[in-house]
Amino acid sequence: MEQRAAFMQVEVMPAIAELWAQSPTPDAGVNCVTCHGPAAQEGDFTMPSAALPVLNPADEFAAHQDDGAWLQFMGAQLTPKMTELLAAEPYNMETNQGFGCFSCHTMAGA
Ligand code: HEC
Ligand code: HEC
Repeated sequence: MEQRAAFMQVEVMPAIAELWAQSPTPDAGVNCVTCHGPAAQEGDFTMPSAALPVLNPADEFAAHQDDGAWLQFMGAQLTPKMTELLAAEPYNMETNQGFGCFSCHTMAGA
């Protein structure tokens, strides 16, 4: 767990901080709590995080179309970058395996 925290701090955060400058809230910045929620302050880094917006994936996330800038940032920037940094396989709908939206967010109704 300590190793994973150090990996996040050293390998993940600088790249994500740079990317966040292109997010809809560049000025808010990004830190452990942005993704892991307030529980991170108590050392709880469980993912997916219940503190993040709950997503409904139906009809290509139609329920979230009002958040178009976020959808764009999440799908085109944050998810591919995180997949790369974690050296993970991208989410595959057929096998329901790999890194994707629901590696961070919880699913509505699930
Ligand atoms: C951009 C989002 C994001 C940020 C910012 C972030 N993390 Fe993470 N973190 C994740 C994801 C996603 C996982 C799960 C990785 C996986 O699926 O293997 C994770 C996993 C972890 C784990 C392993 C948890 C476990 O149960 O195995 C630790 C520890 C951790 N993060 C610590 C940190 C620390 C410390 C920071 C701040 C320096 C941080 N994270 C910042 C997204 C983030
Ligand atoms: C590495 C973790 C991570 C991954 C992967 C991820 N997100 Fe996010 N998402 C976040 C964080 C953190 C926020 C909150 C940003 C904020 O409010 O500061 C967020 C916010 C959002 C929001 C804004 C919701 C609102 O109303 O404020 C939407 C919509 C969203 N994500 C959709 C997606 C979709 C769709 C995917 C997959 C393509 C995805 N996310 C993948 C971490 C992630």
